[in-house]
Amino acid sequence: MASISSLLMDWLINTAENNLQFKDKITLAFSGASGAPYGLKLLEVLLEQQYQVYVLISSAARVVLDTESNIKLSANEDKATEQLNALFDAKPLQLQVFGKDNWFSPVASGSAAPKKMVVCPCSAGSVSAIAVGASDNLLERAADVVIKERGQLILVPRETPFSEIHLENMLKLSRLGVTIMPAAPGFYHKPQSIEDLVDFMVARILDHLNIEHALTKRWGYGEGK
Ligand SMILES: Cc1cc2nc3c(=O)[nH]c(=O)nc-3n(C[C@H](O)[C@H](O)[C@H](O)COP(=O)(O)O)c2cc1C
Repeated sequence: MASISSLLMDWLINTAENNLQFKDKITLAFSGASGAPYGLKLLEVLLEQQYQVYVLISSAARVVLDTESNIKLSANEDKATEQLNALFDAKPLQLQVFGKDNWFSPVASGSAAPKKMVVCPCSAGSVSAIAVGASDNLLERAADVVIKERGQLILVPRETPFSEIHLENMLKLSRLGVTIMPAAPGFYHKPQSIEDLVDFMVARILDHLNIEHALTKRWGYGEGK
C-alpha cells in the first residue's frame, strides 16, 4: 500500500504539472435551459485554449443535452468525465465532471474554486436559486462561492418571454457584479448556419472571459460587418 508521503508527493507533482500544463482553471456549468450547443462549443474552445475545465451538469441539463445534441451523459461523475473526455479528446485531468452532491469537489469551497465560472445555458430555475443563494446542489453552491469570493460569474439565461420574477432575479445578480448574457445572438455577421449563431454567442462569452478565440470578427474589423 502507498505511504502517505508518497501519495502526498504524487499529489504535489500532479498539481505542479497541471499548473504548468494549463493556462487557468474555469468552472463551466450546464443547467436545464435550451441551448446545449452553446455550452458544448464553449467547452470545446476552453479545452483548445488549454484551460482546465471543471464541468457541472444538472439533471435537467442531461435531458436537454440528449434532446438537443444527442449526448446521453451518465449521472455518474466518473463515467460522465470519461464520456466528455472521449468526445473532446481532452488531456489527462483537463476536464473533470463533478456530481451535483459532490461537496468535496474544488468548486464547493472558496479555498479551491476557480475564480471564473460560466453557467451556459442557464435556466430560469438556476437564475432564481443563484439569486437567493440556495446552494442546494453543486451548481448553485459553486455559483454562490464565486459571488462571495468576488470572482467572475457569467450566466447565459435562455427563456422567452422573461417574467418579472426572472427580470428581478437577473437585476439583483447584475447589481452583485454577475454578468447576465442572455443567449441572444446577433445577425449582423450574416450567419449562414446554426453554428454561426452559436459561435457568435460563444465569442461574446469568451470576450468577457478575456480568452482568445477566432470564432467571429469583432465589430468594425470585418468587411462592413
Ligand atoms: C428540453 C428542455 C428544454 C428546456 N428549456 C428551458 C429553457 O429554455 N429555459 C428555462 O428556463 N427552462 C427550460 N427548461 C426547464 C428546466 O430544465 C427546468 O425548470 C429545470 O427544473 C431547471 O433545473 P436546473 O436549473 O437545475 O437545470 C427546459 C427543460 C427541458 C427538458
